[in-house]
Parts: sequence; structure tokens; C-alpha cells
Amino acid sequence: MLILGIDTSCDDTSAAVVENGCHPLSSIVNSQVKLHHPYGGVVPELASREHLRNIVPVVEEALNQASVTFADLDGIAVTIGPGLVGALLVGLYYAKGLAKTNQLPLVGINHLEGHILSIFLEKETPSFPFVALTVSGGHTSIYHVQDYGRYIQMGQTLDDAAGESFDKVAKILGLGYPGGAAIEKEAREGKSDLIPFPRAFLGPESLDFSFSGVKTSVALYVKDWKNGKKDTTDVTLADIAASFQEAVVDVLVQKCLKAAQKTGVRDIMVAGGVACNGRLRDRFLNETRGNDLRVFYPAARYCTDNGAMIAVAGYHRILNNERMESSQDVRSKFPIQDLHPLSHALAEEDARNRNGMP
Ligand code: KG4
Ligand code: ZN
Repeated sequence: MLILGIDTSCDDTSAAVVENGCHPLSSIVNSQVKLHHPYGGVVPELASREHLRNIVPVVEEALNQASVTFADLDGIAVTIGPGLVGALLVGLYYAKGLAKTNQLPLVGINHLEGHILSIFLEKETPSFPFVALTVSGGHTSIYHVQDYGRYIQMGQTLDDAAGESFDKVAKILGLGYPGGAAIEKEAREGKSDLIPFPRAFLGPESLDFSFSGVKTSVALYVKDWKNGKKDTTDVTLADIAASFQEAVVDVLVQKCLKAAQKTGVRDIMVAGGVACNGRLRDRFLNETRGNDLRVFYPAARYCTDNGAMIAVAGYHRILNNERMESSQDVRSKFPIQDLHPLSHALAEEDARNRNGMP
């Protein structure tokens, strides 16, 4: 079964053809990073216009690279949210047109479900149930993944996403945008335990995140450092980058281990742009060594936004005979349980259990 997956949720125009929900035949991503670079972040209007320019050639290239035509496809899956409304609209309405003209089944996909299922594009996959951490410029959440389509959100960021904090701190440190990879590179020469930037654990049982405090703390520290304040004179830019990175990584790793402990799962998967971070991977390796836990990552090209992960999610929907209503619109906010009545019921049951209610 061949599914075309399309994602235009933020600043990447992407399309891919995936066979049987696990075998990518192509994956094309047209990144807009250079376009948004001078502004230090994604400009929604520019993103929509760029998607409009790129969507047709990106889909054509995905078909060409997979050596298939529309006639060979069994369905189309497109991201309908969460994301930038103008950007999502380009993907949704193009996909609607393609499905109609080629008489193909069409399903609307939650972008975060795509990130969670991106691990099934790899040879090594976790066993259900597992814990998923989606950690990118827009999201930082932990899920208990019980099966395809059965997700319980266990925690989420209350303010900045982890990737957003990397980007904001990179700006403070003058390392450019996007900042995650630049901070990781700078941090390699620095001492990660030099400056004790705050870790927001938000209580012993909480699986929520907060990264705005650490960002503010770095900003205040850099002000003192630039003014040559006592005790900061021997500190290097690399030390600040390494100490900040360690603070973020510490929280991400500890919360995932806590989620695994709470749910009793053995497998953890980490997806989204921040999952590329080498220090995060080292820490997971160190912390899980010898305690029967396994950590899985999609390849870097599937960690960041891509159409292949949307095709994986779409495959399971289409197999399940789900179809998009013709009136379906995009959703800038889109809690994962809204798409699945079953997940919604599970989330409610989970909340009742946590509150000790019958
Ligand atoms: O998933 P993604 O490509 O786009 C979305 O935000 O949806 O993630 C991009 C984010 C950016 O915030 C970027 O700074 C961060 O991922 N990132 C990293 C690294 N590479 C990308 N953060 C930390 N370390 C990295 N090596
Ligand atoms: Zn994403």
C-alpha cells in the first residue's frame, strides 16, 4: 500500500511516498531556514507564500524519486494541525484537490502523531506500549503510546518549547538562528557543570516542562558576563552554552525516565529537531545503561519535520477505513486526543485514575 504524505505545518514544505506504513520510497523536504534567518524566527506570512511556491514541485519530486505516479498511490495523508494556519492551509487544500482529481482516499493527520510514529520508518522499532518525547521548536510533550492511534499525553511545556529555548539562547549568545545545532557545537569546548542554570522540575510527580526560566537566567548571566562582573571573567562562551544545554537536557532525560517508571514501559522514543542533540543522546545512553530501558531515535532526516512520518500515520488511518470529511479545516491548536475518540476516553480514564476518582 503506497501513501503520499504531505506536511506544511511550519517552515518546511515536505512530501514523501511510504510503502506499507514503514518503508520510505522517497522523502523531499524544502527547508525555508535561509528565508527566515534574517528575522531570527519563522515569519508566518512568508512561510505561507513559500509553501505556495514549493508545494507542487516538492510533491512531484517525491513521486519521481519513488518512481511512482498518482495512479500507483492508495491514499494521501496531510497534516491538518497543530501549526501555522496559513501554512497548513496550503497543504490541506492542495491535498484535497489531488485526492479529488485522482479519486484517492484522503486522511487528515495530527503533526504530533506523525512525530511519534516517525520511529516506524526505522528498522529498529520500540514495542507497544512505549513513552514518546516530542521535542522541537514548537513542542515539548511526553506521551504514553499504547498502540497506533492510542496516545495519552502525560506532560507538556507550560511556556517555551525546548527547541525554542535553544533558539532564544543562541540569539542571546550571538550564535544565529536556528540555534540548537550552533549551541551544541559551541558547547563541545565548554564545561557543562560550571554554571548551575535552573532546572524546572515543577514538583516530584510533574511531567510538565518550563524552559522560560533557564532562558531568562542565561540572559541575566550574559549581561553580568559582558560587564566583566566578579566570578565571570574566566568563563567562556562555550561554558555558558554547555551549562545551558546541560540544564535543558537534564530535565528532558529525568522526565522521560520518570514517565517510563510511572507507566512501567521498557522503551522510550525521542523525536523532533532537538532529538538530533548529541549531548541528549549521550545522557540517555548513560542513564539507561544497565537498567533494562531502550531508547530509540528516528534518523535525523525523520526527527525534523517531514512528509514520511505523516504517511506512516495516514497508512494506519486508511487501513482503518477512516476518511477526511470534505468540510475538514486546519487547526492551529490540536490536542492529540481530539482526533481519536478512543484516545480521548483513555485520557479521561487516566485523569480519573490520577485523581483517585472511580
Ligand atoms: O522538528 P523541527 O525541525 O521543527 C519544528 O520546530 O517543528 O525542530 C527545530 C528545532 C529548532 O528549535 C532547533 O534549534 C532545534 O530543533 N534543534 C536542535 C538541534 N538541532 C535542531 N536543538 C538542540 N540540538 C540540536 N543539535
Ligand atoms: Zn514538528
